[in-house]
Formats: sequence, structure tokens, C-alpha cells
Amino acid sequence: MKSRWYKDAVVYQIYPRSFCDSNGDGIGDLRGIISKLDYIKDLGVNAVWLSPIYKSPNDDNGYDISNYRDIMDEFGTMADFDEMLKGMHERGIKLIMDLVANHTSDEHEWFVQSRSSKDNPYRDYYIWRKGRGKNGKKPPNNWTSRFGGSAWQYDEKTGEWYLHLFSKKQPDLNWENPAVRKEIADICNFWMDKGVDGFRCDVITYISKEKGLPNGKFNPIMCGDEHFVVGPRYHEFIHELNQNSWSKYDSYTVGESTGITFEKAPDCIAEKRQELDTIFGFEHMCTDMYMEVIPHKFKLSRFTKVLSKWQTLPEGCWNTLFLENHDQPRSLGRFTGDYGDNRYEAATMLAVAMQMQKGTPFVYQGQEIGMVNCKFRDEDYLDVMARQVFSIASKIPFGKAIARACLAKRARDHARTPMQWTAGENAGFTSGKPWMMLNPSYKTINVEADLKAGEKSIFAFYKRLHAFRIGNEIIKNGDFVPLDLTNNSVFGYTRSCGGKTLLVVANFKNKKATYSLPANLAKGRAVISNYGGSTLSAELDLRPYEAAVFEIEK
Ligand code: GLC
Ligand code: CA
Repeated sequence: MKSRWYKDAVVYQIYPRSFCDSNGDGIGDLRGIISKLDYIKDLGVNAVWLSPIYKSPNDDNGYDISNYRDIMDEFGTMADFDEMLKGMHERGIKLIMDLVANHTSDEHEWFVQSRSSKDNPYRDYYIWRKGRGKNGKKPPNNWTSRFGGSAWQYDEKTGEWYLHLFSKKQPDLNWENPAVRKEIADICNFWMDKGVDGFRCDVITYISKEKGLPNGKFNPIMCGDEHFVVGPRYHEFIHELNQNSWSKYDSYTVGESTGITFEKAPDCIAEKRQELDTIFGFEHMCTDMYMEVIPHKFKLSRFTKVLSKWQTLPEGCWNTLFLENHDQPRSLGRFTGDYGDNRYEAATMLAVAMQMQKGTPFVYQGQEIGMVNCKFRDEDYLDVMARQVFSIASKIPFGKAIARACLAKRARDHARTPMQWTAGENAGFTSGKPWMMLNPSYKTINVEADLKAGEKSIFAFYKRLHAFRIGNEIIKNGDFVPLDLTNNSVFGYTRSCGGKTLLVVANFKNKKATYSLPANLAKGRAVISNYGGSTLSAELDLRPYEAAVFEIEK
């Protein structure tokens, strides 16, 4: 029976390569994580989502897996993993692994076999097609890779093309093949039998492709979506995986659900369907990006309308709450505008605005100390996506300048600079040469400094929020009612349950704002405030980035 523990969880995401290096090779690793378990526990979270740690040639930092049952050499050994898991469980922290099952690495044994000949038993583990045009030298259809360019790669050996919706080193698995689906269930069971508590399912919405792989509507960046986002057999495949694996354990699953709409979400997560427990929807993350990549101006009302809509998921569905992960730029600045000297206020305001909503919050490493975007030169970008964007853009006039401007705001590299532990050498991340440049901000923004900042410690504030929310019935199950969704400075809402009401207000601007409240919400005391105290009145005067939670008096 599922206890649905995730409804009372706060999840901390670790991107292992950049978290903590224990042996001086410049790459974060499992023993590094082990050394920080008390830190994670102290933050008051009760679950961790660990980005991939499996064997991988690292074309996409572990999202290209060459062996699902082994640990990446740079990260350590299975013994290290077992010790890490035990250490988490001893501290009351559950572990969610990353399940990357839409594709494997081209170095996975299945693919090595698959590409070796047309009649190899593994041929049908992947999606192979003949090319179009004379001699089959044109890709089978017009779908694009999410990293840019065609989604097809020609393979000399057998004269056919294979599909890769990500890099060419990430061939898509053929989920139509029952043997593939059985492999994935077996992999899940392997890790759950070890005691793992669930999975974050990577680009899971892409696993089912429409028969015949028809051409997509014209779209230079994301072509083909309508033929594989929640494709025809998606629900069948996920339900089957749920039955053959996840439902046999007290597990939690969250599916990265790129492209999913609010209307389609309930079919993916309603409890009675026995598919995924939750999804990451990206609609709120697209309110300041066109097609997820081209930045445009942030407008609070556009953002809060989307968030508030997702609060109205029907009964039997559960939401997730996040502003950051390893694929997104940092939230400070992005959703707050220029915060100047008010970094503490801005960071804690975002925490209040998100975490008092209904759902399971996710905090990405570094968010708890207010880490910020980095200034990169062209050659500093290491991400496969950024590199591909540059190489494609450099072929068109002004392309490079445009790419540079987009990446400065959008690059995934922003989230991947090493964790900033101290102001000392290499930010305390490694004693060697970090695999990726450090954000020079580590001199002032780092764990050590934050923990010493007393009333201005972002970490301490997050910790207070977690203690407040976990086990709090109003936050967990209370109704959510937004106050004024046209307001472009303040996000206000109430949460109520059993005759009790909490009022949440968050000023998204780096200047004062006034906010009028109805009489029934004008009396009460602050239980959370990022100014060390906030006073409630019908005409609220909010200071720059002030955020507070009030208990309303009847
Ligand atoms: C997901 C991951 C991302 C990766 C991609 C391909 O979006 O979060 O990091 O590049 O899938 O696996
Ligand atoms: Ca290391």
C-alpha cells in the first residue's frame, strides 16, 4: 500500500557533478554527498532527488546512460552508493533516483548491438528508419532534436538512421518493443530492491511516438512535438510500468513533463489511474520564455495566473512546486528583477511565494543560499545544448550574437557551476581543478557566509519554512484562494482548512508596494516574515521583497 509520504515532503535536488568533490579530481562524487548529509538534514528537507549517477560517457552529464546498474567511475562505487543511501535513511531522508528511460547512451551495450546489424536481436530496441530522397540521404522526417538540428543520425554501418530527440549520443529507445519495457521495469525494481524510494522520470512524456513517425508542423526549434508529447501509447506504457514496478513499493514518482498542458495533467497523475504520482509541469517556467528558450520580459500576473491555475488540479491529483533545477537558470533575478543589495529579501520572498502553495516543493542545490547566474564567455559554456546552439547559430548572420544573448539568460550552465561552500580556494568544492568554472560570486555567496549571516541567512529561512510546512495540515491540504491575479507587484493568496486561514503575501518588486485586503483578512499576526516581523492591516505597506504569512483572526 502506498503511504503517499511525498505529500509531506520537501525534496532537495543534487546535481552530483557540481555538489562536492571528495578526492580532488575536480568532479563532485558520492563521498562528497556523504560528507554533506548532515548539511542536507539540517536544511530540514526529508527527501533528495539525485540527478543521474549511473555509468555514462557524459555527453549530457549522466543523462546518457551506458549501464543502468552501475555507478559512474568519477562518482564512486556501488559500496559508496549503499553507504550514501543508508546515511540518508538514518537521517529520515528518502532518495529519489533519476530514471532516464526515453533514451540511453550510444555506448550502452544495447545500442552497440543494435547498430551492429539489421538482424541483431537488439535492433528493435531503438528507432531505426530508412532515409528519404534519392539514396536515402535525407533524414526520415523533419523532427528536430531538443538541442537543435535534425533528430536523426545516419549510421554508415547499416545505411539507416536512428532517432535521437536529444544529442546524437542519446538514441531514443523503442518503447513499442515489450522487451524494452520489461528492461525498464527490471531496472526500477533493481534500485527499489536496494531501498531507493522513487524516481524522477526524465522527459517521460516523450516515450510514445505516433505510428509512421509523420512530419511535424513547421517549427524551427521544436518540430514534431504533436507526434510524441504524451503520444498514443503513453498512458498504457506508464500504467504498465507502474504495475510491474512502482506500485509494488511505497514509492514516489515525478515525471518531467515537458510540453504537458493543465488539461492533460489529470490523466497522467490522478491516483485512480495508477500512472505517475506527480509531474513537473513547465507552464510557469515558460511565462518568461518563448518555446522554452527565447527569453522575454517577466510579468508577475502572467506567472501567478499559471501557478494559481495549477493549484486547482482536481481531487486525487497532487502538484509540485519549483523554480529551479539543473536545466534552468537561477531564479534570483529571473523572477525578481534586479535585486541590488536585497538578495536575502528576494531569495526568501521567492521561497515563501512558492512553498506556501499546495504541493511538494523542490529546492535545487544552491537555491538555499541564493546562488545566482554566472557571466560566461563563449568558451566557458560546457553544456551540450549550449555548444550545439552556438554551432548552429554561427552559420546564420548575427546568429552568434543572438545565441549569446539568449544563453546569457537561459543557459543550463548557470545552474551547474559548482556549489559554493566557502569563500576559500575553489569555493570549498574541490581541492583540485573544478570540472567547470566557478561562479566568481562565491567570494560573497557561499554556505559558510550564509550560515554566519544570522537574521539574513537564506538557509536558516528555508529551514524555518520547511519546519513550518512539513506536517502542517493547512499547508498540506488547505484550500488555495488567490487574491488579485492582475497585480504585477504582489502575489497574495490564502490557505484555509478547518476554520483556520493563513494569508500569504509576497512583494516581487525591489520597492515598496501597497496592497489592499478585504476586511475579513485585515486582522492577524505574522507567523513567517522575511523582515523579522510584519504587521497586518487592511492597507498593507510592504517593504522591498517583503514576504509574510499571517494567521488570520476571526
Ligand atoms: C531532461 C534532463 C536534461 C537532459 C534531457 C535529456 O530534460 O533534465 O538535463 O538533458 O532530459 O535526457
Ligand atoms: Ca571527485
